[in-house]
Amino acid sequence: MIARLGLSSFGPRESESLSATLIRNISSVLAVTLVFILLLTYWQSATKVETEVGSALVIAEKTVRKVIQEIAHDDDPRLQLVRLVRVFDGNRHVKVTFVEPEPAGERISSFVAPVEELPNWFYALMARVPEVVRVDLPGDLARFGMLELTADQRSEVAEVWEDFLLRLAILSVFCALVATLVYVTVGRALEPLPTLSAAFERLGGGDYGVRVAENGPTELVRLCTGFNEMANRLGQMETANQKLNDQLATVQEEERADLARDLHDEVSPFLFSVEVDASTIRQMSQMPDQNVVAERADAIRDAVAHINKHVRSILGRLRPSVDMEFGLANAIETLIGSWQLRDPNVTFNVDVTYPGGGQKEDAVIHGIVREAISNAFKHARPTRIDVSVTREPEGDVRVVVRDDGGGLTPGSSAGGFGLIAMRERVAALGGTVEIKNSASPAGVTVDVRLPIGETYAAFDGSADPEVG
Ligand SMILES: Nc1ncnc2c1ncn2[C@@H]1O[C@H](COP(=O)(O)OP(=O)(O)OP(=O)(O)O)[C@@H](O)[C@H]1O
Ligand SMILES: [Mg+2]
Repeated sequence: MIARLGLSSFGPRESESLSATLIRNISSVLAVTLVFILLLTYWQSATKVETEVGSALVIAEKTVRKVIQEIAHDDDPRLQLVRLVRVFDGNRHVKVTFVEPEPAGERISSFVAPVEELPNWFYALMARVPEVVRVDLPGDLARFGMLELTADQRSEVAEVWEDFLLRLAILSVFCALVATLVYVTVGRALEPLPTLSAAFERLGGGDYGVRVAENGPTELVRLCTGFNEMANRLGQMETANQKLNDQLATVQEEERADLARDLHDEVSPFLFSVEVDASTIRQMSQMPDQNVVAERADAIRDAVAHINKHVRSILGRLRPSVDMEFGLANAIETLIGSWQLRDPNVTFNVDVTYPGGGQKEDAVIHGIVREAISNAFKHARPTRIDVSVTREPEGDVRVVVRDDGGGLTPGSSAGGFGLIAMRERVAALGGTVEIKNSASPAGVTVDVRLPIGETYAAFDGSADPEVG
């Protein structure tokens, strides 16, 4: 628990940046290290002062005792004692004092070298209680007084102080360098982060074109590369989505267009034929031969059955189908037969040598013929209609329906749907449609070319003399 608390305090604080956290932690570690080094230095220095000064005192005592023995028989021992004191002038660790007896006793001390700039607080911190060694003079010499050896720690502490200042300076420079290095390195390393977070915001707002520069430390380069790839993928998905929506809209449009074409092709002409048949019945009801009336009634029934069938098929969302059970030529013959029944005065010239191919292509060809004939009856008064479905020498299938009903009047195509549907269906197969007025006799020619050659070459009409 305590360890967890201790470690967690190294983590980033609320709304603190990563670089600030790093600098704070590194500074703490440096400060702790600094304190530890200072304590160690203190302990080392205090021991050193004690040892140095202690040994200096021991050596001084030995020297003094040796000299005292030598001067015991001297003519002027007092002078020798004063000289002994002077020997210690300038000694860095020991002060020697010659103490003469009272009442007129003098104190002659050795001269202690001054110590430069030693703060009192540091001396108080490092110095031990000053040690004094008293050396009594032996025998006769005792009347001259005695010698006092005092340990002087100031110069030793001053040495330590200098040492301490040097260490402190080195450590401070080191800490400052480390802190600066960390600050600069972390600052540089994290430089791309604000850009990256701004880029994430833009990406979140739907801007998939946003990219970030892939530079900086390896980890951030990887992050930036990953970001760019993600943005790229999202952009592609967005484009694909858009395309899919467009396609969906197009498919819906096409489906509507198909439905409209179906209604037009499969229902409209038959309604028209019912209308024609109804008028015919009305006219023929006055005639003696009532068989014709029955025939027209049958035709109406057939037409209604056809309409019924196709309305059901449209409602059931089935594709348009032409009953091609007996082939394209047969279906066209049946179609023409139904018109001949309605108006026997119109002559049909049929030339269908193309046997048909795929169901879709045959349905288109059948639809072209049906619409062209239906238009001729609906908009003109033809006496003759030529229908041909043949293969051209270059391979295209050509559908031509020509009537002599008088031709198109200017602006006549407005509002019609049949010819538009015809063009759409032919264009879907890659073919061309030409609708023009033809002279002598005046009428309309619908001329369609369909590139159906290659796939159905094996079924070419020339191979089957029965067809057409
Ligand atoms: N054989 C033709 N003779 C004279 N005019 C024609 C002939 N075919 C088409 N037209 C004219 O071209 C117009 C367009 O024909 P289209 O088949 O597109 O429309 P529609 O027959 O009027 O209506 P829908 O076919 O939609 O029932 C017709 O309205 C008609 O005026
Ligand atoms: Mg029409």
